[in-house]
Amino acid sequence: MPRVRFRARPAPAAIMDNAGSRIPGFYKLPLRERREVVCERAGVPLEELVRAVDGGGLDALMADKVVENVIGTYGLPFGIALNVRINGRDRLVPMVVEEPSVIAAASNAARRVRASGGFTAEVIEGLMIGQVQLTEVRSPALAIERLERESAHLLELAARAVPGLVKRGGGPRSIEIRDLGRGCIVLHVLVDCRDAMGANLVNTIAEAIGPVAAELAGARLGLRILSNLCDRRRVRVTCRVHAQELALGRASGAESSRSGPISDPPPSLSPPSMAALRDIDPIEVVDRIVEASRFAEIDPYRAATHNKGIMNGVDAVVIATGNDFRAVEAGAHAYAARTGRYLPLAVWRRDGDDLVGELEMPLALGTVGGTLRVHPAAQLALAILGTTSADDLAMTAASVGLASNLAALRALATEGIQRGHMSLHARSVAVAAGAQGDEVEIVAATLSERGEITREAAGRALAELRARR
Ligand code: MEV
Repeated sequence: MPRVRFRARPAPAAIMDNAGSRIPGFYKLPLRERREVVCERAGVPLEELVRAVDGGGLDALMADKVVENVIGTYGLPFGIALNVRINGRDRLVPMVVEEPSVIAAASNAARRVRASGGFTAEVIEGLMIGQVQLTEVRSPALAIERLERESAHLLELAARAVPGLVKRGGGPRSIEIRDLGRGCIVLHVLVDCRDAMGANLVNTIAEAIGPVAAELAGARLGLRILSNLCDRRRVRVTCRVHAQELALGRASGAESSRSGPISDPPPSLSPPSMAALRDIDPIEVVDRIVEASRFAEIDPYRAATHNKGIMNGVDAVVIATGNDFRAVEAGAHAYAARTGRYLPLAVWRRDGDDLVGELEMPLALGTVGGTLRVHPAAQLALAILGTTSADDLAMTAASVGLASNLAALRALATEGIQRGHMSLHARSVAVAAGAQGDEVEIVAATLSERGEITREAAGRALAELRARR
């Protein structure tokens, strides 16, 4: 397979710093033109993009070098979220996801947020945690005192284990000790992994200092491994949406979706119910979204679904950029449960006539290292995003997570999620029934009109269409 090497570079400032992520009519363009627009805006050669994503980017021979017992590869759709502006800079955000409407919904919500300046994001601390478990400790107090006294020595050992990281300005920063009781203490080493996710670096450090720590503590050496509850490497994203931007009939996503969970009431709604939806006062939409947030704050059953909506956006960016989504998921849910009660990662409140949202979650992502950094499509994703910074990537993924959450809550608080979802689902059903080319849209539209979105109905609609032609 030809190797495609992208140098992730900052996107051309003149384009991306103002309206670079607004592309009206994008969804209506033929696939080739969509690719051309993205390449032009991101400064990526078209042939490189085509080589990186056609066929999923990874062939079986390369896959065989990545994992074991390979028999092939498994492709997923690679799309672009539009309208995203973070800390004043426009981003085209690559998303890899199989669920219809996720990309459209994130783009749509990002457009509503954009009207009041976009997302504000920051990375808090940026440190990974390596754990060294020490068991059968006879005197925990004495062991802790010794480990604390020798922490400079332990940090020195840790730094020696990762010279490359230290050279890049990262490395171990501090040591913390926790007494878990029953003769078990845990030493945490906090590591700045720079632009790496850091699993290998942190595990190397934990293994390097483990034996010395055990000796100092008079303990048996237990596990040495990073913690995926990376609560010292968090991202905080906030946004503000003016009430009128939430009104039905605004920012209906014309540039980003055929339909979607936050589209306006579809024409197939009967006139009275359509009028009822359009009549909802935008301030009431704000209040209903806040009410939905409070529901998640008091009920873990709802919080899990609320957070799933956030992870729809976060994971799609994480996967597109070749990062470890299992690690991200583990960290997100452990963080959500950190108080002993499972809570939403994002909350929404009203401020005057505005809706304000805040998301905070642990997010360990990398732009260097890791197996998938050799994946051409992951490299392409970073090039389209125009970043080489792991912090930047984490802020982007979290912003798209907050956008996804807003999209879902707005739909749930007004027309409900199902109609938009089902009209997009109709396309997959049409494909499954054998529709090809322009048949897909026609069959999907027929299914939506008839309100019957099943494989059998799609088969019938397809047969009718072919008979007519
Ligand atoms: C579906 O993928 C995600 C939602 O269930 C999220 C939510 O309920 O907030 C719509």
